[in-house]
Amino acid sequence: MIETQGSPSVADDTGPAPKRLFIKTYGCQMNVYDSERMADVLRPLGYASTDTAEDADFVILNTCHIREKAAEKVYSELGKLRELKDARTTNSTTARGSSTNSMIIAVAGCVAQAEGEEIMRRQPAVDLVVGPQAYHQLPELLTRTARARGERIGADFAPNAKFDAMTSERIGPRGVKGPTAFLTVQEGCDKFCTFCVVPYTRGAEWSRPVADILTEAGALVERGVREITLLGQNVNAYNGAGPDGDPSTLARLAHALAGIPGLDRLRYTTSHPNDMSADLIAAHGELDVLMPYLHLPVQSGADRILRLMNRKHGPKTYLDVIDRIRAVRPDIAISGDFIVGFPGETDRDFQDTLALVRQVNYASAFSFMYSPRPGTPAAAMATQVPDAVARERLHRLQALLFEQQTAFNASQVGKTLPVLFERKGRSPGQAIGRSPYLQSVHVENGEHLLGQIVAVEIESGTQNSLAGRIIQQKAA
Ligand code: SAH
Ligand code: SF4
Ligand code: F3S
Repeated sequence: MIETQGSPSVADDTGPAPKRLFIKTYGCQMNVYDSERMADVLRPLGYASTDTAEDADFVILNTCHIREKAAEKVYSELGKLRELKDARTTNSTTARGSSTNSMIIAVAGCVAQAEGEEIMRRQPAVDLVVGPQAYHQLPELLTRTARARGERIGADFAPNAKFDAMTSERIGPRGVKGPTAFLTVQEGCDKFCTFCVVPYTRGAEWSRPVADILTEAGALVERGVREITLLGQNVNAYNGAGPDGDPSTLARLAHALAGIPGLDRLRYTTSHPNDMSADLIAAHGELDVLMPYLHLPVQSGADRILRLMNRKHGPKTYLDVIDRIRAVRPDIAISGDFIVGFPGETDRDFQDTLALVRQVNYASAFSFMYSPRPGTPAAAMATQVPDAVARERLHRLQALLFEQQTAFNASQVGKTLPVLFERKGRSPGQAIGRSPYLQSVHVENGEHLLGQIVAVEIESGTQNSLAGRIIQQKAA
């Protein structure tokens, strides 16, 4: 999944003296979705979103534990927030009135789940720690925090309660901004790759019922959303209850969503190769709304390393899936995730990864140096690879992936692509949207096209984006 940072946007329409909420989001798109829902459940309490911690009454860090760097960022951010909070307390007599002087600091997300006690110990300025399955309890927690510090609410891993409580506000009139939206359909992971914290921080796999997803998606489309990205740590393991009560597959869910008038584009992320079922592969050939882009992490091209990673598939299974999906959708853009320097990885194993990359020919990819995570089996393996070796492999892998990405973008030049415009660009009049292949596309004089899908002739392509010319302006 793509890592992001930022604060969710919500309408500021609470009463005369709104309390200000700042949420900083780290990690994957699931955290982005959760941050928006947290803002939703806090809005009825009078919290309106603000863009900086400086003027916030309530700060939530929605954190990521996937690699050491991600987790450490939280502690350095908390250090800064503590200074702000201290300054606020010192100045309280001259500030805005007694009830809004202090700052409440909460840590949410996967670091909260993995090391809640440690957070409380290392940073006394933290008022509450809340795990990913307990966000719907935030309003109640806040009232308790007013009386006593030190609440730590972990995951009870009953995500249905969370979703029931947290999406009601979204299907109301204020939950949407812009033409694209994330929609979490599946949580947790049962795969237990030996390097990964997600099964511990997010708990067991669980899928939302089809009916709830259709209701949320319908409401999003009614509010102007044209593209929905279905989210899950293992989204293609989706098996939520269908209309008959029997489990539905992701393919069946996609077919049902395709029936919503006005929903033009559907994406899903992140998938595991073993869960690319025949009906899901077929759906890529059957459904126009399903965009020709697939993020399918493989981690390594070496059979030996994939075994040590407990991925439960070899390079051959992965390549077969890619072949089968290209057979039904030849233009599909393939993306992936890679880890270099996994314990025991030899130069020969790494060569196998490079060979797999050459065979697949990626449109985009994310690659990481292995980061030992506390409590995971791989962290205890005796064969840790020296940093310098892993770093050098990362550079070599990235050079190849960047070359492929640049070539993929360059191959679009001269083509006409439908682009969904999402936001304004930096220069006046510029608009930025996405191609079906998830590439960023820039056009000049396109500001009036936000929210529309418009034909664009691609004139240039670089490593990270495309630029083009509007050739046809459809009505929205
Ligand atoms: N559920 C998804 C992705 C989860 S995390 C999947 O199964 O692919 C996103 C990516 O982070 C992973 O695909 C992996 O490439 C990377 N990652 C996870 N744990 C890591 C670790 N300990 N060190 C380095 N990268 C890691
Ligand atoms: Fe982590 Fe593996 Fe689960 Fe993905 S499938 S979330 S990498 S344990
Ligand atoms: Fe990070 Fe948790 Fe997502 S560890 S990648 S925020 S599931």
